[in-house]
Amino acid sequence: MKSDGLWLFGYGSVIYRPGFDFVERRTATLRGWARRFSQKSDDHRGTPEFPGRVVTLVPEPSSHLKGVAFRLDPASAPSTLLALDHREKAGYERTIVDVTLEGGPITSATVYIAHRGNDWDAGHESHDAIVATIVRARGPSGTNVEYLFRLADALRSLGAHDPHVFALEAAARVALNR
Ligand code: SIN
Repeated sequence: MKSDGLWLFGYGSVIYRPGFDFVERRTATLRGWARRFSQKSDDHRGTPEFPGRVVTLVPEPSSHLKGVAFRLDPASAPSTLLALDHREKAGYERTIVDVTLEGGPITSATVYIAHRGNDWDAGHESHDAIVATIVRARGPSGTNVEYLFRLADALRSLGAHDPHVFALEAAARVALNR
């Protein structure tokens, strides 16, 4: 069954800090994509001199990615998307995907993905390299480690299993001794 509407799917900071009004919030699953800390952030969690690392999605056929789908009010959706275009301007593009709402139908949703080869793509870095950056970086939206820890907490509260995020979180806690 398909139920189309103005849904926005969030998988990173949009989960724990949407920053826009919505009429409904549902846990949802996106197939075929995996979350990766492979995107440089020079405007939110880092600076041009020392960019942080934030998540984007990379194609992974076997992956079931949990996130949150927000249903937008049709009247405010255009301005919400324009504000998100600005917030996600460092390499992300609006992409339409199918997501499965928890306990409900499949629906089309807009998601912001920074595709491979964009100007902020950090490429394939080791976990050690990603953590070394995350524990040092900070930008106008706060520290990079806060982004990582809040995302990991939000994923736990969704019941999401994300080995990549949880391994980085554990390594960052060791590095910071907390
Ligand atoms: C998202 O959360 O859906 C996009 C990536 C981010 O802003 O962290």
